Amino acid sequence: MTRYVGAIDQGTTSSRFIVFDRHGDIVALAQREHEQIYPRPGHVEHDPLEIWRNTGLVMREALDLAGLQPSDLVSIGITNQRETTLIWDRRTGQPLHNALVWQDTRVDGLVAQFAREGGKDRFRAVTGLPLASYFSGLKLAWLLDVVPGARAKAEAGDVLFGNIDTWLVWNLSGGSDGGLHVTDVTNASRTQLMALKSLQWDDGILSAFGIPRAMLPRIVSSSEVYGECRAPFAGVPIAGILGDQQAALFGQTCFRPGEAKNTYGTGCFVLMNTGAEPVDSNCGLVTTVGYKLDGQPPVYALEGSIAVTGALVQWLRDNLGIIRTSDEIEPLARTVSDNGDVYFVPAFSGLYAPHWQESARGIIAGLTRYANKGHIARAALEATAYQTREVLEAMAKDSGIAIKELRTDGGMVRNDLLMQFQADILDVPVVRPKVTETTALGAAYAAGLATGYWNSPDDLIANWGVDHRWHPGMGAEQRRTLYAAWAKAVERSFDWTT
Ligand code: G3P
Repeated sequence: MTRYVGAIDQGTTSSRFIVFDRHGDIVALAQREHEQIYPRPGHVEHDPLEIWRNTGLVMREALDLAGLQPSDLVSIGITNQRETTLIWDRRTGQPLHNALVWQDTRVDGLVAQFAREGGKDRFRAVTGLPLASYFSGLKLAWLLDVVPGARAKAEAGDVLFGNIDTWLVWNLSGGSDGGLHVTDVTNASRTQLMALKSLQWDDGILSAFGIPRAMLPRIVSSSEVYGECRAPFAGVPIAGILGDQQAALFGQTCFRPGEAKNTYGTGCFVLMNTGAEPVDSNCGLVTTVGYKLDGQPPVYALEGSIAVTGALVQWLRDNLGIIRTSDEIEPLARTVSDNGDVYFVPAFSGLYAPHWQESARGIIAGLTRYANKGHIARAALEATAYQTREVLEAMAKDSGIAIKELRTDGGMVRNDLLMQFQADILDVPVVRPKVTETTALGAAYAAGLATGYWNSPDDLIANWGVDHRWHPGMGAEQRRTLYAAWAKAVERSFDWTT
């Protein structure tokens, strides 16, 4: 009987369930979007119950589409939007507040307060991360401060903390009736509460942020059998967890130091495998856990996190209405032959890597009467490529490795104009693999390795193949001029809210 591995991919805008076969090919896929809740500027929330409901629905729908039963799955893996933070009641399973999404900037004040007492990098040596509103720790501190009664209940172990991986595993494995309370090392490395070397919660930081240990999940590897699902998926082992960007690194089989990928989703996230030792960043990147297989040492990564790339296309669609669907961005951008000197810095959540400018805000620079919506569309796409170049330059400085080609994945890699411009502005080839659903694939790989569906990483490398390669074709002078203008626009976006 043919069997499969399933992956839950719980992302910023939607939840998906994808069933893969032994070749890493997709057998079935179901997807549901969830509401983005923007209560005020800078605040971004999700309803955790809606996410859990949608997850159950897409699991069922994908299996139905392929005519499969839960027993056809060897195991399932989970990959998730990272840093998004929630707390819930252990007895009732009810969240005490909407989840604070990674893009939410409401803890700016806490960031500034902690930075005053020791600088933005005061926890970097231990956690690999600068102080920023992005990570979970300060979001959790904020929830404990503002939700009435939460802190006392957390201290008693009655209120639990989790990122989305933890929330889903807890619910899948029984919820208030004995659900597992775990997180994997990659997700834990994004909380700013875990020490990168020991892979344990750090008491010093817990006490600085005022976070009770009793509410924290147990930290586990990225690939092992954690437990089993309850009905309606009863008996299916849950055997892989990876934050979505680490899952894409794994799905792209970047197993050797120096191999890197860029995922073009809501934001862009460049991760480079740096091997067995964490590499400190001096250039504005973050140091993170890439993955950890059961019983093996962790593999670390350097990451350049960019908050807004695909989200800018959605913003042009939803807030400005200059396109009706995201796919219309490319034909609109192609109505003009260049950017018309327009630059769009999408600092909607401040700027992340390599600037870490909490107080930056979005700007469109270089407007004249000549500019039209085609130029705006083109500037929006180019912003993705310029931001990627910024983090790759930082990566080359930090790691001493200049990448020879960039592996890409995520929704925006269908966009030929963007991919060609990316190769041009980087001056290195850009590669799209045959399976671009590498995030879900990485989670499936982790779960399949833990349950003997695949024997070793070599089986996974054998599955990887190139679909398309874009070669750089831009002259050096044009590349320099464009990038210099971008850099000028970025500086103009700084310090807007200070
Ligand atoms: O760090 C945030 C990241 O994990 C979100 O990824 O693909 O859901 O936008 P995505």
